[in-house]
Amino acid sequence: MKYFVAITISILALACGQAGSNEQADMYEASELSAMMREMVVWSKEAKATLAAGDTIESVPQNFYDLAKQTATRGEHEEAAFQGMAPLYAQALRGIERQDSQQYYYDASIEACRTCHAVYCSGPLDVIKQL
Ligand code: HEC
Repeated sequence: MKYFVAITISILALACGQAGSNEQADMYEASELSAMMREMVVWSKEAKATLAAGDTIESVPQNFYDLAKQTATRGEHEEAAFQGMAPLYAQALRGIERQDSQQYYYDASIEACRTCHAVYCSGPLDVIKQL
């Protein structure tokens, strides 16, 4: 069983790695999940700049809480690993929304990207590193 999980995960990582770069990904019709991921990148960049300027992040896009319900290109959303990690991102967003220790929860939100992408697709990790 352990072997099976390890092999499945490495196949998934490979599959996503090939379409990982933005140039390649743009050739495909973006899935619901891909589209939301792109919005998450844009919003996270803005949020980072807001914190760097010493300001408060006033709101969190409410649709990001539905991350786990988006349809993914390769059915990732139906997998237990994906469903297990999606709540980490939602928890971090709730922390940002409560407006205490926003830097801490912002960092936790980026850590959630990294955790999931370590399993699913390593392509966007370069983008995530800059957030
Ligand atoms: C629970 C798992 C999970 C979390 C959390 C997550 N991602 Fe993703 N991400 C995925 C999966 C799976 C895909 C592939 C989507 C598809 O192909 O349908 C993806 C795709 C992407 C893509 C490529 C989108 C495209 O153009 O096709 C980027 C960029 C990305 N994620 C960035 C992020 C960032 C930034 C965060 C955190 C703010 C994040 N991800 C959080 C699972 C996750």
